[in-house]
Amino acid sequence: MKLSDNKATLSFSNGAPSMELPVYSGTLGPDVIDIRKLYGQTDMFTYDPGFLSTASCQSSITYIDGDKGELLYRGYPIEELAQKKDYLDVCYLILNGELPDAAQKADFDLQVNRHNMVHEQMHFFLRGFRRDAHPMAILTGLVGAMSAFYHDSTDITDPTHRHISAIRLIAKMPTMVAMAYKYTKGQPFIYPRNDLSYAGNFLRMMFATPCEDYEVNPVLERAMDRIFTLHADHEQNASTSTVRLCGSSGTNPFAAIAAGVACLWGPAHGGANEACLHMLEDLQANGGVAKVGEFMEKVKDRNSGVRLMGFGHRVYKNYDPRAKLMQETTKEVLAALGLENDPLFKLAMELERIALEDQYFVDRKLYPNVDFYSGIVQRAIGVPNELFTAIFALARTVGWIAQWNEMISDPEYKIGRPRQLYVGEGVRHIK
Ligand code: CMC
Repeated sequence: MKLSDNKATLSFSNGAPSMELPVYSGTLGPDVIDIRKLYGQTDMFTYDPGFLSTASCQSSITYIDGDKGELLYRGYPIEELAQKKDYLDVCYLILNGELPDAAQKADFDLQVNRHNMVHEQMHFFLRGFRRDAHPMAILTGLVGAMSAFYHDSTDITDPTHRHISAIRLIAKMPTMVAMAYKYTKGQPFIYPRNDLSYAGNFLRMMFATPCEDYEVNPVLERAMDRIFTLHADHEQNASTSTVRLCGSSGTNPFAAIAAGVACLWGPAHGGANEACLHMLEDLQANGGVAKVGEFMEKVKDRNSGVRLMGFGHRVYKNYDPRAKLMQETTKEVLAALGLENDPLFKLAMELERIALEDQYFVDRKLYPNVDFYSGIVQRAIGVPNELFTAIFALARTVGWIAQWNEMISDPEYKIGRPRQLYVGEGVRHIK
């Protein structure tokens, strides 16, 4: 970041001396006012619940322009990456800052492949869960447990350990998500196969059985790869900020990423794709397209507590670019599977059409986000609803680990410690 010529002056109505605050510019996006010395000089904090106006760090990984609907990983538009590169190219890019050349890509693929099995003992650990456990509950446990199984890569001061733990997480996530699925189905775990692509291997671990192999359909493989790419990183969202805050204490990366998985689970974040599909299924079961108008009235009524899931975003005040790519993929997958007339897709298109014209949504700049279509495409591939968020976690792992690594390597890195405005009782004593 560079110091801007612009400066901010903070003045007070009570006659206290005003304070000059430095302003910094990044490569793109809004400038930031540096308030680090504010407390020391004024004895005051800033107040920003939900971080509506707070940049918590400097980062060179992902950039979002919410007004334009633009998403860049290391400067490359998401559309170009989704159309021209595969997910492991994107992982390499996010981790290292540049796209790999052919030799670097081959080496990276090999490293990921060589780490994709999990410690055999993890199977027994997983078997301790109830069969009806939610896959996100299992995944939070499994990722956290990685620090027990792979404690030889938990020295965060050692860049080699940080690299190995990053590769381990990226490589083992598909295996663990597929294991969580197989466990809840009561089917045997399927080991990874290194002659398949990252996405193809995941599909096979999900859908093959020891009695019948699974032939990877290239359209579904490409769709799964795109789902991974579109979810790979999204700057300082709730789960990434959780990973950074958790990791700022110096805990190991597996523990920090487990915290990210737990945060992602919530319906306002990664859980929205599951919530969105439930919403579409409910609406379909209760009248479908004919009832869209009635449903939208509920959505617009603040007292109903009903939200149009898959719509709205804290940062995007325009069409989420990932939603456009996901809609394209949904059409491709439905066509490849002969499901062009899928009623849920039709319902989603109708909801989108009405919402984009409705003044409530227009005024609030609410557009479809990535989760609006990702559930429909995953359902068509055969992924059950309750696994959607786990797949999001799988894909986001690279973003979390890159952001964690960036924080650990930053010379200005400090433990994260927000302050508060205390509004409880004043001092009182026990009588
Ligand atoms: N349906 C109906 N109204 C909405 C919606 C929605 N989906 N989203 C926002 N609003 C309204 C909200 O009621 C408020 O209205 P008013 O000004 O009259 O009070 C206004 O729009 C602003 O909403 P907000 O809750 O203050 O906005 P936020 O930035 O805090 O929340 C959000 C962003 C994503 C949590 C929210 O839009 C939402 O709950 N969307 C549905 C859940 C969803 O799809 N989440 C996935 C996000 S994308 C995936 C990811 O990155 O994790």
